[in-house]
Amino acid sequence: MQVDWDALTRAATDVSARAYAPYSNYRVGAAALVDDGRTVVGCNVENAAYGVVLCAECGLVSSLHATGGGRLTHFVCVNGSGEVIMPCGRCRQLLFENGGRELLLLTVSGVRRMDEVLPDPFGPDDLMKESQ
Ligand code: THU
Repeated sequence: MQVDWDALTRAATDVSARAYAPYSNYRVGAAALVDDGRTVVGCNVENAAYGVVLCAECGLVSSLHATGGGRLTHFVCVNGSGEVIMPCGRCRQLLFENGGRELLLLTVSGVRRMDEVLPDPFGPDDLMKESQ
């Protein structure tokens, strides 16, 4: 499958302009393709209680489920200048849950699989094993 990473990066850059980041002034936009062809996006939303911040990936994953679910297949996140950044550790876990090991990410070092940026992940399979 040929993927238009430039278009996905543009979608992430566009949504970064809607970030609510008055405390860090660091805008983030995230965009992903879903296995049915949808594109989902998210931006970071900060809070006066600083620790309550929602990363852009949180909004993206909420949008994934709110618009019909499915699996993420391709993902990119950018800063407010449209430069590709890496998802934080917590958000790699969020992305893994919703895209699995095969999810492709456009990263600062090129296109990588999820299991390269989150090796040996903890996930749903671990819970299944324990409950049997
Ligand atoms: N941020 C994201 O939205 N996603 C990430 O993966 C990294 C960090 C946001 C959170 C906060 O609003 C700002 O970037 C600075 O950390």
